[in-house]
Amino acid sequence: MNATTDLRLAPARRGDLPRIAALARTAIEAGLGHAWTETRLGRSLRHPETMVLVAHARAPVPPAELGTAFAFAGFGIMFYGDSRAHLNLLGVEPRFRRLGIGRRILRWLERSALEAGTFEVGLELRAANGAAQAFYRALGYEPAGRVPGYYEGVEDALRMRRDLRATPAGRP
Ligand SMILES: CC(C)(COP(=O)(O)OP(=O)(O)OC[C@H]1O[C@@H](n2cnc3c(N)ncnc32)[C@H](O)[C@@H]1OP(=O)(O)O)[C@@H](O)C(=O)NCCC(=O)NCCS
Repeated sequence: MNATTDLRLAPARRGDLPRIAALARTAIEAGLGHAWTETRLGRSLRHPETMVLVAHARAPVPPAELGTAFAFAGFGIMFYGDSRAHLNLLGVEPRFRRLGIGRRILRWLERSALEAGTFEVGLELRAANGAAQAFYRALGYEPAGRVPGYYEGVEDALRMRRDLRATPAGRP
């Protein structure tokens, strides 16, 4: 994927919310209740200290109904607190995974944190989600504890964090 011509990152619009909610439900909340509804995502969209970033990528074979070569590819939601930022959610559509899109979304959100003078990013993820753990480790995140039963009492959460002042791991 060509970094400049094949991917567009921009703040989400209301029209993106159904796709974000659907991806959150299938890719992140599978087996749990649907917490990240369009209503809740709409609150994030309006929240002054939260960024909902959406990625559209040039699809190799776009579905005819899209009428454009660009398709919804993923999203990330970050809350910017005074001393630390928190990554609330991140997801990439299955057909667009392992193309560097998750990395691009997260690095964009991290740069915004740095510009706001925030140097630490934290997140929780499902303890059984080995792929996401590998992804975050590849991007310089370190384990920062485990929270038993964090997800509706049925699954633990792993906490991970990254000091944005530290030398980035691997590619930027
Ligand atoms: C985790 C997720 C966001 C990664 O997005 P992605 O666009 O596929 O990731 P990238 O292509 O940017 O990967 C960057 C690096 O992370 C690592 N990585 C990503 N996915 C991985 C996997 N499934 N297994 C092992 N390492 C992985 C690799 O080092 C990769 O670099 P490489 O492809 O050059 O080897 C995506 O798999 C996803 O949406 N999963 C479902 C939702 C989810 O688990 N979200 C996170 C918790 S909220």
